[in-house]
Amino acid sequence: MPVRLALAALLASIALGGTACGTGGVAKGGSAQSGKALFTAKCASCHTLGAAGASGKVGPNLDEAFAAMRGSGRSTHFEESTIKQVVADQVKYPAQRDEGVNMPANLVKGSEVDDVAAYVASVAGTQSSLAAAASGGTTQSTNGKTIFTSSCASCHTLAAAGTHGTVGPNLDQLKPAFARVKRQVINGGAIMPAFKGKLTDAQITAVAKYVAAHAGKK
Ligand code: HEC
Ligand code: HEC
Repeated sequence: MPVRLALAALLASIALGGTACGTGGVAKGGSAQSGKALFTAKCASCHTLGAAGASGKVGPNLDEAFAAMRGSGRSTHFEESTIKQVVADQVKYPAQRDEGVNMPANLVKGSEVDDVAAYVASVAGTQSSLAAAASGGTTQSTNGKTIFTSSCASCHTLAAAGTHGTVGPNLDQLKPAFARVKRQVINGGAIMPAFKGKLTDAQITAVAKYVAAHAGKK
């Protein structure tokens, strides 16, 4: 799998001494506290991370990706600072794939990169985060706004939910009616994933109602 290979290659170059070339600086400091809010707003709809209640499935599951690096009796044990560096590098220079969705570059900038990297490094692949991911995180919620924030935010702009994603259309401008949102969430599109089976019928109805009621209203 190319994604795993890219991660392995990056790790190997870090393990062999210093940073990978072209990384644009070592990730240092960073507040995991502010990183959590950034992750929810900018990363959650594409990535699973149990500790953040994120269950996105567009990109790799970050609990699974980093579980092995945490050691747990394995010979390869990486420091948290190394995991942080991998995350920061990915945010600045995402690997580009030939097909499917590519991770957009520079979703967060400057010190926010260190914050989000510190947060992911502090939780990804830990036992409690893996367990939370397995039980589906907070997306058990049937609150439309909560579902929107965790499943749709990083791709769509919706002022009422405070989100600024630009992968999909700006919902404030589109102002889709309930039936249109519901159809799109069930079936997905060319790029947008289908949520049938990932969200329950009640959750799909709730998020469609929420979008139809709030798009363009703030
Ligand atoms: C629009 C969807 C999307 C968003 C938003 C997104 N990612 Fe990604 N991410 C991907 C995809 C697809 C990949 C795999 C391909 C690649 O490496 O670019 C990926 C890969 C990664 C990897 C590497 C994991 C591995 O196993 O190699 C990390 C770490 C990561 N993303 C962190 C983040 C963080 C942190 C954010 C928020 C700042 C974020 N992503 C936002 C889609 C996304
Ligand atoms: C990985 C990015 C991504 C995620 C996550 C995502 N969308 Fe989309 N969305 C898109 C894209 C891209 C389009 C444009 C159509 C296409 O190619 O899929 C779109 C289109 C739409 C449309 C317009 C459909 C139409 O009739 O024109 C609506 C409404 C919508 N999305 C709502 C949502 C809701 C609600 C969620 C969360 C449950 C969500 N999206 C999650 C990327 C995304």
